[in-house]
Amino acid sequence: MEERKKDHVNLALNSSVDAFHKDDRFIYEPMLAGYPGKNIAKRTIAGKQLTYPFWISSMTGGTKMAKKINTNLAQVANEFGFGMGLGSCRILLDNEKYLPDFNLRSVIGEDQPFFANIGIAQLEKMLEEDRLKELHDLVALLKADGLIIHVNPMHEFFQKEGDNLRHPPVETIRAFLTVANYPVIAKEVGQGMGKESLRSLLKLPLEAIEFGAFGGTNFAQVEMMRDTNADNALYEPLAFIGHTAEEMTKMTNDIQFEEQARIETSNLIISGGLKSFLDGYYHISISQIPAVFGMASQFLKYAKEDYKGLKSFAKNQINGFQVSNAYLRINR
Ligand SMILES: Cc1cc2nc3c(=O)[nH]c(=O)nc-3n(C[C@H](O)[C@H](O)[C@H](O)COP(=O)(O)O)c2cc1C
Repeated sequence: MEERKKDHVNLALNSSVDAFHKDDRFIYEPMLAGYPGKNIAKRTIAGKQLTYPFWISSMTGGTKMAKKINTNLAQVANEFGFGMGLGSCRILLDNEKYLPDFNLRSVIGEDQPFFANIGIAQLEKMLEEDRLKELHDLVALLKADGLIIHVNPMHEFFQKEGDNLRHPPVETIRAFLTVANYPVIAKEVGQGMGKESLRSLLKLPLEAIEFGAFGGTNFAQVEMMRDTNADNALYEPLAFIGHTAEEMTKMTNDIQFEEQARIETSNLIISGGLKSFLDGYYHISISQIPAVFGMASQFLKYAKEDYKGLKSFAKNQINGFQVSNAYLRINR
């Protein structure tokens, strides 16, 4: 105690923060709750209730580190009750030797939502070639609850080996939904999407739309770093195109208001550029559609090291979320 008081005296003088940095998204109400306070609203994805509204966004597979990273992520999802999307499973369609990177149902457990993942270009091709059974078999093989379709035309454009799309993605997804007998999620990968794309998706019977919003991982930048040829650099301005999670949540609320009963999508996974539980708490609180929040790169930082660090990160995020839930209200 004495030591703590001494620290306070020594440190307090250096601790003052500038009022300029105040986070005006919230109203702080310290008088009105205990901690951990009121129950956290429960969210259900693919019929599975999450303990916390956290989602581990789709990442890697098919690299040397993938098995360790994915196993760490699945374990933390199991331990704390999060949902998880796999990174693109395309490589597994080509070669079963990659199965251990993705075969994580036994680690994440039966009770957590766990989704396979495929790109829109691949889906379009498989639809045209009447090869969808391979996708249905993939979902079954992984004992996944359903399939995430990632839609990333800007990312593909930046890749030398990138795929072109022959049809509007929403049409491909609509066609796929008529034959998929499992839940489907559609997402971007880091540039988000505008209001009319959101509207077109929200009218489909998707299990969720994952934002993959602008403001965090940016694959246009990643591809420019991978391939430093001068042509690619000329496209750089396109890397700064996109929509943030905040814009997208607000657009989705507007669409919900405008379309009411025409909305058929059940949930949002608000992701892309979220740095912590506080961003997550903010976004899922303002969303009019049931929402969880997702992070990719923030989890990756820890998952590529060891489980202990990842577990402690997850626990801290939960504690932070709970204290926010107890004492913070949205400044509307
Ligand atoms: C290493 C890495 C690999 C990714 N691979 C995929 C993928 O295969 N499929 C996909 O849908 N999204 C993929 N993403 C995109 C993420 O799911 C997420 O939409 C994006 O990273 C934005 O979230 P963040 O800002 O929290 O990182 C990947 C992200 C990272 C960091």
